[in-house]
Amino acid sequence: MLSGGRTKISDLLASTAPGTDVVVKGWVRTKRGNKNVAFIAMNDGSTIHNIQIVADVAAFDEQLLKSITTGSCVKVTGKLVESMGSGQPVEVQAKAIELYGGADPDTYPLQKKGHSMEFLREIAYLRPRTNTFGAVLRIRHAMAYAIHKYFNDRGFYYLHTPLITGSDAEGAGAMFQVTTLDLNDVPRNEAGGVDYTQDFFGKSCNLTVSGQLEGELGALALSQIYTFGPTFRAENSNTPRHLAEFWMIEPEVAFFELEDDMALAEDFLKYLIRYALDNCADDLAFLAKMFDGELLDRLNFVVNNDFVRLDYSEGIDILMKSGEKFEYPVGWGLDLQSEHERYLVEKHFKKPVILINYPKEIKAFYMKLNDDGKTVRAMDVLFPKIGEIIGGSQREEDLGKLRKRVEEVGIPEKDIWWYLDTRRWGSAPHSGFGLGFERLLLFVTGMTNIRDVIPFPRTPKNAEF
Ligand code: 4AD
Ligand code: MG
Repeated sequence: MLSGGRTKISDLLASTAPGTDVVVKGWVRTKRGNKNVAFIAMNDGSTIHNIQIVADVAAFDEQLLKSITTGSCVKVTGKLVESMGSGQPVEVQAKAIELYGGADPDTYPLQKKGHSMEFLREIAYLRPRTNTFGAVLRIRHAMAYAIHKYFNDRGFYYLHTPLITGSDAEGAGAMFQVTTLDLNDVPRNEAGGVDYTQDFFGKSCNLTVSGQLEGELGALALSQIYTFGPTFRAENSNTPRHLAEFWMIEPEVAFFELEDDMALAEDFLKYLIRYALDNCADDLAFLAKMFDGELLDRLNFVVNNDFVRLDYSEGIDILMKSGEKFEYPVGWGLDLQSEHERYLVEKHFKKPVILINYPKEIKAFYMKLNDDGKTVRAMDVLFPKIGEIIGGSQREEDLGKLRKRVEEVGIPEKDIWWYLDTRRWGSAPHSGFGLGFERLLLFVTGMTNIRDVIPFPRTPKNAEF
């Protein structure tokens, strides 16, 4: 009833009942054969594997068989039989074939195999039809499911935080504005600035860069929450690790200190990677074979090793003494670039590293100040091949100290008063972090460009489909 009148290819390939009549629907990957018999490899996205359809040429209309080309969509009715060929356990002996939609070989862009990732990005609207993107998208789904399962099983509540916001959580200042004002005729106030009182929300609003601030409100009521939603950053970073629209998972936990936060981050990441190893074996094996022979070793390595915990100051020391030529300068007070993060992880420790206690100047205003008055209870989890995969911290729960930081970094109190109020009434120690979903997927799939782990990447000058 819920099957669309067909059996999924994943179920057929796992079937132990050859001899039954079946209906298969899907897209043709290849067709080959001779004047007597045609072999059609079909895929319906339920698995990386194709099912082979065997058609007796004499039994079918010549035109019909001709129109079954790579990319076309067909319905096949036939008998499931044990396969004589070596590639597959079972195949379908076709009795009837119906063409749903043809794909002209002269125009279908995925006619051949082995397209470059760059080319596939240009036809991102079609690339889910390739083996690689099928695998990536199935793994993406499995990871999203595992994230909800992890938190649900541990009593965290999924909190929906707004996408449109009047505050700038990270203070990075690279936000997308949301407005219904007529850009050709912007209303002005007396001072000559834009009169936002006439805008939809009566104030200037943006797309959110993070659900954290609202997440904290949830944690200070439900004790443990997580968010999982899209976030938007208008920074013009054309790197293989940055998207303008990406998904973030942000747990926030009352009564957690930095040490608890680190333990949660490590346990969470290991759980997710183990989940992928256990549940996405076929897709991972395909990606390992095609792109990255060390993929499975790397995943197992992270699952089986403790993450290093290291002070920012010690990290800077190691980098300064490394003798390594870096493109960007290293020094106490400077932020780490991904080359520095990867040096610590890949060359020095050869393990994931959690770097903590960063100088307050290079971190967001909400992080809890250490007793030294110079550093904050920040943590970044650094991964091989990726660099920063998680950013988080213990939060400043003291109203006076938080207010002082807000003032120092120049956030108008009128924009953030509601956040400060959480420290006025029933404040509590609490901590959380943000995992970049696509950074996680980069690591798990072994893909090297973040544009290749999201179905429709949004990057500077790129929002066509
Ligand atoms: O380190 P970030 O900026 O931290 C926050 O937004 C905090 N509010 C999180 C929290 O404590 N609740 O971002 C968190 C993570 C990064 O570690 C990275 O994995 C990912 O989000 N990220 C990006 N991923 C893709 N494209 C971008 N432009 C990203 N910017 C950050
Ligand atoms: Mg960060």
